[in-house]
Amino acid sequence: MVTLLKQPKQIITIDSNGKNHKRGSEMNDIGLLENHSLLIENGKIKKIIENSSIAKSNFDNEIDLIDKIILPGLIECHTHTAFAGSRSEEFRLKLQGIDYEEIAKKGGGITNTMRAVRKSSFDELIEIIKPRIDYFISQGITTLEIKSGYGLSFYDEIKLLQVIKELNKIYSIDIVPTFLGAHTFPPEYKNDNAKYIDMITSELIPYVSKNKLAYFCDVFCETTAFSAEQTEAIFNVAADNGLKLKLHTEQFNSIGGLEVALKMNAVSADHLEVLKKEQIDLFAESETTAVLLPGVSFFLDYDYAPARELIDANAIVALATDYNPGSSHISNFQLIMSLAALKMGMTIEEILTAVTLNAAYALDLSETLGSIEVGKNADFSIFAASDYSELVYNIGKNLNIMTIKKGEIIYKQEGSET
Ligand code: NIG
Ligand code: FE
Repeated sequence: MVTLLKQPKQIITIDSNGKNHKRGSEMNDIGLLENHSLLIENGKIKKIIENSSIAKSNFDNEIDLIDKIILPGLIECHTHTAFAGSRSEEFRLKLQGIDYEEIAKKGGGITNTMRAVRKSSFDELIEIIKPRIDYFISQGITTLEIKSGYGLSFYDEIKLLQVIKELNKIYSIDIVPTFLGAHTFPPEYKNDNAKYIDMITSELIPYVSKNKLAYFCDVFCETTAFSAEQTEAIFNVAADNGLKLKLHTEQFNSIGGLEVALKMNAVSADHLEVLKKEQIDLFAESETTAVLLPGVSFFLDYDYAPARELIDANAIVALATDYNPGSSHISNFQLIMSLAALKMGMTIEEILTAVTLNAAYALDLSETLGSIEVGKNADFSIFAASDYSELVYNIGKNLNIMTIKKGEIIYKQEGSET
């Protein structure tokens, strides 16, 4: 059955020009089309046609999108959505001037959430996480990465990954699982870090890989978490076990993590708030995506990653919320897009590329996702706006009225005429 997505005001194709990412100045080229419609069939994009050539014989049914804007389904490529509990008490401390790393050193932070996750059953976690996924979908997100990292024991890390797997079955969006057992050292291994790393490398990673519980392995490389050497040791085992790599790095301190990520061809290096000048150029030739998380800088009130300099240096840049209970309790994607413009100097066009094609690339999925091109999956977010710039200009306001995954409408805003 062929469906016509009829006469939208604008189609933002993010046409990839035969590549699977955009770097540097290419990020401004969003492939804007007017006076065109889309034909979709069997969950894929069949044709992009001029409105003047639409004939009744072309399609079986239609979705009227007059005055709407179509974008590739938005892609959220870095989240910690699988958490339990609340850290609002820590938020109070933060407002009193106690900083994130200090709170973590006092047994708060990631270990605080770990305790809540360990206390929660599989079923409880599913119910806690579902509304968060619904909220992402209502914003036009059709692909969502979720990390483990709050279990920090064999049993609880596997429990979280199984929860993520089950959620991927429940929802029709793609949920991409990332193993983040190396998020921090849990209290029981505080005095024996090597033993925890040994558990990760000799037990967890082989189990995760054998049971296909994660696509990526991530590590938090930071003075309060894992060193560059420890990161490299974990990455070597992960790569040997067929996992692709991602790294939380250069968030508060630059301790060699980025160099490990680039050397090992990590798919992405995420955070980068304290990136040094000479490190920016390392992205010019690299295939590793710089995933920037302006919500963290906003939430913790510190430096923003040098997005402008990275793009000017020809990097591949993507954006994400980093949705988590401690450093970015923000799941509003549109706010992230606006922060990227206002605080990191990105253009509206660069931002749209960063949340579609480049975000797909940061999940190793840009062969099939992230742009509106014939043969790619029919994943779309539909916005009620007169121009695509409204998406960044309307700060924190959800303009998405319909989310389409593989050709099926999976979300429709109540009261919308479409
Ligand atoms: O990406 N940096 C480490 N991990 C998360 C924060 C996790 C937490 O505080 O719960 C982040 O910022
Ligand atoms: Fe993160």
